[in-house]
Amino acid sequence: MKYTLGLIGFPIKHSLSPWIHERFLKKANLNGSYSIWEINSNDSFTEKIEVLKKRQVNGFNVTVPYKQKIIPYLDELDPAANRIGAVNTVVYQNGKWKGYNTDGVGYVRSLEHKFPEACSSKNNRILIVGAGGAARGIYDALAQNGFRQIDIANRTAVNAYEIAKLGITSTKTNVLNLEEAQKSIPGYDIVIQTTSVGMKPKQNSVVLSLDHVKETSIVSDIVYQPIRTKFLNQAEVNGAFIHYGHTMLLYQAQYAFEIWTNSLVSIDHMDDELQLILE
Ligand code: ATR
Repeated sequence: MKYTLGLIGFPIKHSLSPWIHERFLKKANLNGSYSIWEINSNDSFTEKIEVLKKRQVNGFNVTVPYKQKIIPYLDELDPAANRIGAVNTVVYQNGKWKGYNTDGVGYVRSLEHKFPEACSSKNNRILIVGAGGAARGIYDALAQNGFRQIDIANRTAVNAYEIAKLGITSTKTNVLNLEEAQKSIPGYDIVIQTTSVGMKPKQNSVVLSLDHVKETSIVSDIVYQPIRTKFLNQAEVNGAFIHYGHTMLLYQAQYAFEIWTNSLVSIDHMDDELQLILE
């Protein structure tokens, strides 16, 4: 069998996904390809999706701006994708098109890999900074994982309250503004930056200051361009452990690949290799 896989979105010409999935295909000893299927605003989205369906591709990733737009074209949604309200992975299985969201699980897998003890203690206090699509997926995966305290800090409170609704009964969530969050930083064991603040070409900005972060805390930034954001730099200078954004990219891809092929490939040294590509 030959796997036909790819990515839809716009703009995606510089996506790292082909590099990652072609690596995975080799590692799993599978035959296949991963292509870029860019859909721009002049294209008919419906027509482009129909073409992929007719070709009976095995699966594809979905990125900005189509993570919600794809939903009506699918036959089934995985429960997490349904809760999150966004799909980043589609698989053709048993005659049906099914949507998943692998971002949050990818984040948790990458954290588990780098900091296993942090994941085993569900009493660790977590702060998510930001309340966009990525924050939603990460919050959901952490709540499903059993973490008991997951607070959300955001510029716009209403967006954070929307995410807090996803909590399960054992999850406690406070919503904070960015100023309050900055003051409360010493109280968190894991801080996860999910906004686009600090991304190239505005790499000199931070969403809040980490001057008072606890020395034993873990600080994640989902931004990976630059690989070492100013936020991560501040975290390290203040003695915290840092967790790079590109590792989440790898693990969300690992989960997508597993959905398509039933093969769980190991990341091995791919995070170091990806770091070199990005630097
Ligand atoms: P994604 O879906 O990739 O997570 P998004 O939906 O655009 O991205 O979410 C962006 C997040 O970054 C939001 O939480 C946004 O805050 P608001 O909800 O107040 O809009 C946050 N964000 C973006 N730019 C920001 C800035 N300059 N300062 C603070 N927060 C910012």
